[in-house]
Amino acid sequence: MDSILVKGNGALSGVIPIAGAKNACLTLMPATLLSEEPLTLTNAPRLADVRMMTTLLQSLGAEVTSMSQGQVLAMSSHDISNLTADYDIVRKMRASILVLGPLLARFGQAVVSLPGGCAIGARPVDLHLQALEALGARLDLRDGYVHASVPGGRLKGAVIDFPLVSVGATENALMAAVLAKGTTEIRNAAREPEIVDLAHCLQKMGAQIEGEGTSTLTIQGVDRLCGATHPVVTDRIELGTYMLAPAICGGEVELLGGRLDLVAAFAEKLDAAGIQVSETVRGLKVSRGGNRVKAVDVVTAPFPGFPTDLQAQMMALMCTAEGVSVLEERIFENRFMHAPELMRMGARIEVHGGTATVTGVPRLKGAPVMATDLRASISLILAGLAAEGETVVSRVYHLDRGYERVEEKLSAVGAKIERIRGE
Ligand code: EPZ
Repeated sequence: MDSILVKGNGALSGVIPIAGAKNACLTLMPATLLSEEPLTLTNAPRLADVRMMTTLLQSLGAEVTSMSQGQVLAMSSHDISNLTADYDIVRKMRASILVLGPLLARFGQAVVSLPGGCAIGARPVDLHLQALEALGARLDLRDGYVHASVPGGRLKGAVIDFPLVSVGATENALMAAVLAKGTTEIRNAAREPEIVDLAHCLQKMGAQIEGEGTSTLTIQGVDRLCGATHPVVTDRIELGTYMLAPAICGGEVELLGGRLDLVAAFAEKLDAAGIQVSETVRGLKVSRGGNRVKAVDVVTAPFPGFPTDLQAQMMALMCTAEGVSVLEERIFENRFMHAPELMRMGARIEVHGGTATVTGVPRLKGAPVMATDLRASISLILAGLAAEGETVVSRVYHLDRGYERVEEKLSAVGAKIERIRGE
C-alpha cells in the first residue's frame, strides 16, 4: 500500500486546477442506462471511483470508453445484457446503488447488491427503496441483494416525500421518475450542485424536470430519452479542500475553475477565520498573510449548508487556529476518525458523540498517521503541509478514490509532498 510523505515547507504560491466533481460523475454515469443512445461526459475526473463505476456499467453490458486521459467518458447502453450489479463491485463503492433507479426505469427489473456500511457510518439505503416502491417497484430483499421488478413493466409517477435529505436517494428517485408514466413530485429533495448537474444532463437527454436546486422536484415522465454530451460540474469538495492549503500554510493560491456559488457557506467560514477569498477571471483566489487563523464554529448540513465532506479538512485548519472551535457533524454518525490521527500530531481535540472541540495550538508536529476514509486522508495531508517535520500518511488508497494527482497539484504550489510506493 502506498503512503504519502509530507514536509512542512512554508507558504504556498501558484495555481491549482480543479477537476470535475466525483459525486456528480458517479450519478451522471448510471444515467447512460436510461437511454439506448450514447451519453458522453466531458471534464470527468480521473479517479479510482470513476474507474470502479466504469467496471460496473461494463459488467451490465454498457460500453464505456475513456478518452483524453480519462477526462472524456463516451458511454453507450444500447446493448444491456445483464441486470445484476454484483456484491463484489457494490461493496467497494456505495454509489453503485445508483444503477437501481435507471435499470428499473428502462428495463423494469434489476438485481442490485445492498452496499453495506462504510467507515463513516451505517449508511442505509432505505430511502432509496421507499422512493422506488412509491413509483411502483416491487422490492424483495434477500441474500444481501435487492431483487426489484415493476409489475406492468413501467414505473408510475408518484409523490415522494423524503423524511430527511438524502443526496443518493434523490438521485435514484430522479433517474427513475424521468421515464415513469405520469407526474412525480419529490419533496424534501437534496439541493446539492451534483443534483442540479444531474437534472441538467437529464434535461439535455429530453427529460422534463423542474425545480432542480430547490427542495421540490417535479418530473413529467417521458417514453424515452435520447443521447447527450454533458460537462461534469466543478468539484466543490476538491475546491474547498485546496482552498484550505494556503489557509493552513499561508501564501496565495488561485483555484482554476473554482466557483464561489458552489462553496458559499464554506467560504463564509474561511472569511470569519481571517482568510481572504476572492473571485478571479479564472476561478477563486485564496490567501493568508502573517495573521494567525481565528477559530470558528462549524455545523455540517445539507447544501447550501456547510458540507460534511469538508468537515475533516476544516478541522485540520482549526488545529492551529487561535481559540477554540466546535465542529458538529450532523450528517454521518462516525466522521471524526481523523481526530485521533491529528492528535498524534499534537492537536488538542475532544470528541463527544457528534461534536468535536478543537483548542488551537501554535503548530503541529509531523508524525506517522493512518488514513481511515477519503476525506480524513486529505485532512491529514493538509495538516502535514504546515506541521514541523515530516508526516507520513499510510493507506492512501482512500485518497485515490476522490482526489486525482494530489502530489502533483500540491507540489506545483510549493508543497513538499511525495508518494512512497508500497509493496
Ligand atoms: C453522498 O452520499 C456523497 N457521495 C457523500 O460523499 C456525501 O457525504 C453525502 O452525499 C452527503 O452530502 C456521493 O455522492 C457518491 P446521503 P449519500 O444519502 O448519497 C442517511 C465523499 O466523501 N441515509 O445524503 O450516501 C445517511 O446515513 C462522500 O465524497 C439514510 O438514512 O449521502 C446519512 O446519515 C462521503 N437512508 C444521511 O442520510 C438512506 O436511504 C445523508 O446521506 C440514505 C441516506
